[in-house]
Amino acid sequence: MSHSISIDGTPVTVEAEPGDTILDALLMAGVGFSYSCQAGNCGTCRCELVSGDILELEYSEHALEASDRARGVVLACRTQVWGDTVIRKLDDEEFIVHPSRILRCSVASLDRLTHDIHRLRLDIRSGGPFSFSAGQYASIEFPFAPGRARDYSMATRPDEATLEFHIREMPGGSVSAGLAAGLRTGDAVRVSGPFGTSYLRANHTGPVIAIAGGSGFAPVRSIIATMRAQGLANPVHTYFGARAERDVYGEAEMRTWVEGRTGSSAHVVLSDPDPDADTGTHAGPRRFGLVTDAVAEDFARLDGFKAYVAGPPAMVDAATALLASRGVASRDIHADAFHPANIDKEGTT
Ligand code: FES
Repeated sequence: MSHSISIDGTPVTVEAEPGDTILDALLMAGVGFSYSCQAGNCGTCRCELVSGDILELEYSEHALEASDRARGVVLACRTQVWGDTVIRKLDDEEFIVHPSRILRCSVASLDRLTHDIHRLRLDIRSGGPFSFSAGQYASIEFPFAPGRARDYSMATRPDEATLEFHIREMPGGSVSAGLAAGLRTGDAVRVSGPFGTSYLRANHTGPVIAIAGGSGFAPVRSIIATMRAQGLANPVHTYFGARAERDVYGEAEMRTWVEGRTGSSAHVVLSDPDPDADTGTHAGPRRFGLVTDAVAEDFARLDGFKAYVAGPPAMVDAATALLASRGVASRDIHADAFHPANIDKEGTT
């Protein structure tokens, strides 16, 4: 016997089979609902349980704090329904749903930002406009790799005419490694999206911390550029983690954007510096070690911060755990999980 799931305060009611999770049933019915990892790790699908017979599956303590659980908050992706259920969206969250589109774009330019990160700029040819929120990603299918779409975050503001992506070339990656040889200016590229819930929450008026690793700089660039364009005056602290000097890019621009803001700071943290290859011509000072250690050193507490995190999975996990331990509420930590099916051998952002 199926059960109903209703969203309080809305006309939405969907059917669920016994044992379906709330998220499964909503997505099956085509109801827009924020989610990311679908595995109880990110906390994006948090909602309030008003009533119902449910069974909760295991989840990470970073995704849902005990205090939130005590006030009836559950994770839609880890909550099975075994009776008619009513949930409520959390009022402290900004839900933005952009219609997902498939666009035909053409390559405006392809150049290198570092020895292994390409900058791809695309002009929208048809299927637009492409509305997205800063921090989201799209799925791109290149003509030289049909059927092998990969996810990359937009690095530009949503109001810009050109879409920009930072694509790390993975050794042996079946798509990214073929980019330089396989793609030419003017080539047609299929873009679908937007996806992801780690987007700019413009209603947040408190301080912001953004932690990026490698090409995870792209969504952070989009978020900071958009905050700036919208005149959002929050103090901002950016941490860009890279292995060595040759992996750093976009620093001068980011420092200009961030260091002009009151109570803000921008940091570059190198985990594996190569002194022999360092020309010494940086846009700012260097710190050494793990990017998460630099954050830990700078902040004993981060209560009231909104956090955006993007980069390799291990860094994202470490940063998420650190932010939670320093007092950032799980609803204020926005980090998109990597989806194994879309990883080009090792990883993408
Ligand atoms: Fe449910 Fe990530 S989508 S915790």
